[in-house]
Amino acid sequence: MKTDANNDTPLLDVADLVVDYRRGRTTFRALNGVSVTIGAGECVGLVGESGSGKSTLGKAILGLTEVTSGRISFAGSDITHAKGAARRRLAADLQVVFQDPYGSLDPTLTVGHILAEPLTAAGTGRAEARKAVAEMLDHVRLPADTVTRYPSEFSGGQRQRIAIARALVRRPRLIVCDEPVSALDLTTQAAVIDLFIDIQRETGVSYLFVSHDLGVVRRICHRVSVMYQGECVETGPNETITRNPAHSYTRRLLLASPVADPARQAERRRSWLGLRTATGSPVP
Ligand SMILES: Nc1ncnc2c1ncn2[C@@H]1O[C@H](COP(=O)(O)OP(=O)(O)O)[C@@H](O)[C@H]1O
Ligand SMILES: [Mg+2]
Repeated sequence: MKTDANNDTPLLDVADLVVDYRRGRTTFRALNGVSVTIGAGECVGLVGESGSGKSTLGKAILGLTEVTSGRISFAGSDITHAKGAARRRLAADLQVVFQDPYGSLDPTLTVGHILAEPLTAAGTGRAEARKAVAEMLDHVRLPADTVTRYPSEFSGGQRQRIAIARALVRRPRLIVCDEPVSALDLTTQAAVIDLFIDIQRETGVSYLFVSHDLGVVRRICHRVSVMYQGECVETGPNETITRNPAHSYTRRLLLASPVADPARQAERRRSWLGLRTATGSPVP
C-alpha cells in the first residue's frame, strides 16, 4: 500500500459522519455514522448498491451537502463545515470527477479553455496555464491539438479523460471519483481505469473511488469500504474484501459482479450460500 509511512495523520479522515436529508416534514438519514480514512497516494474504494449513500459521502467531503454531525479532516484541518473562501482554497487540493462527462464539461468552451479555467481563476498567468494544460493532456494521453476542440467532438472515454485532466490541473492531493467509469463501455472502462492507476503512480494523488461495481474497485483500489443503507459495513484490504469478504452483504455484491472463471464463481456461490455438493458434504 502506498501510504506515507512517516506520517500517521491520514490525508482524509472522516469520523462518525451523519447526513440527514430533509424530505418534506420528515428527515431521511442517508449516512449513519460513517468513518473512513485515506492515506497519501492511496486509493480507497467505496462500493455498495444504488442508494447506499456513496455519493452523499463524496458530496459531504466536497462540501456539496450539509453535514449533520461527525467530522471531516483534510490534511489535518477540520473541513466539515468549510464554506466560501475556505472551500475555494480547498479546491487546489480536493477535486472531483463525476460519472457524467457530458454534464460536467461546458459545451460552449474549447477544451483548452475548460482546462485553463481553474488555473486562471486562481491567478495563474496565461502562458503558465497553457504549459500546464499541455502537460495535463499528456498525462491523460490526449493529443496536443485537443485544446482547440470542443467537448462534443470527443467520445465518452475521451471526455472522461478531459474531466480527469481538469481535476488534475491544479495538482490536487485527493480526487473524489464518483462512478467515473460507470457510463463507459467495458473496453473504454478498462483503459480509463488504467489511466487512473498510471496517474496515481505518476503524481501520488489519492482517490476516493466510488463504484457500485466491485469488479471495478478490485482493479484499482488499495482498500475497500462497503456501504449498506447509509452505514459502512466492512472495510479492509482489496484482496480481503473482493475475494474473501466477511459480511453477507459484500458476498452478495461480489456474486453479482462477473469473474473471469465461471467454475470459481460457481464454487464461491455454493460455499458462501452454504449450499452442499451433490454428495451432501459441505463445500470446503
Ligand atoms: N438531496 C437529497 N434529498 C433527499 N434525499 C436524498 C438526496 N440525495 C440523496 N438522497 C437519498 O439518500 C440516499 C443515498 O443516496 P446516494 O448517496 O446518492 O446513494 P448512492 O450514491 O450510493 O447511490 C438515497 O436513498 C437517496 O434517495
Ligand atoms: Mg451515487
